[in-house]
Amino acid sequence: MRIDIISVVPKLMESFFAHSILKRGQEAGHVEVVLHDLRDYSLSKQRQVDDYAFGGGAGMVLSVEPIARCIRHLQSERHYDEIIYMTPDGETFNQQTANQLSLQGNLLFLCGHYKGVDQRVRDMFITKEISIGDYVLSGGELAAAVCADAIIRLIPGVLNDETSALTDSFQDNLLAPPVYTRPAEFEGIGVPPVLLSGHEAKINEWRFEQSIERTKARRPDLYQKSGL
Ligand code: 6GU
Repeated sequence: MRIDIISVVPKLMESFFAHSILKRGQEAGHVEVVLHDLRDYSLSKQRQVDDYAFGGGAGMVLSVEPIARCIRHLQSERHYDEIIYMTPDGETFNQQTANQLSLQGNLLFLCGHYKGVDQRVRDMFITKEISIGDYVLSGGELAAAVCADAIIRLIPGVLNDETSALTDSFQDNLLAPPVYTRPAEFEGIGVPPVLLSGHEAKINEWRFEQSIERTKARRPDLYQKSGL
């Protein structure tokens, strides 16, 4: 998979993609993440990419020309399966969206900033609009990083233990069960004996029950969706 991200502050995301699982996924050739500075596509000497809103009001709007130039340049090199605009008024991101996007070949993310982008960008180029929740961030960069992380870890081969993404919270609309590691006793508090029993079927049954109890207690809305 290839992920391109257009931003006015690409540096904000550089270190995020240069570490841990995301770094390994790129080094192993499972994914390539390329950051683009929108100012490189500005038509002005001052590298301006925004302007005042027609009709007035506070806040700047990202202009259509630099974004159109950048997107068209990238499109001349490859086809994009989705061109995604990160915006608080997009559809809320969830595990199902992450699963779907992880199956694509090329994704292009456009990060909003200031008061957003000229509506013509959205009408002309954008195929999907994503928000990561009902709160406002200063820009779409962190949101794009969140989505890219959730997507990349689902690409086969990116995680060490290939089954571990399948047992994540949300994969079946259930939260993950509690986990424990050594020591088996800490300050007088042990771990559930079944986990030390070596009995795999019993352990799986216990984990499933715990998932159900946790989901019922914490996320009754998810529990409904799970159909259990
Ligand atoms: Cl995608 N962008 C911004 N600026 N704020 C957000 C968001 C995106 N998702 C939630 N809040």
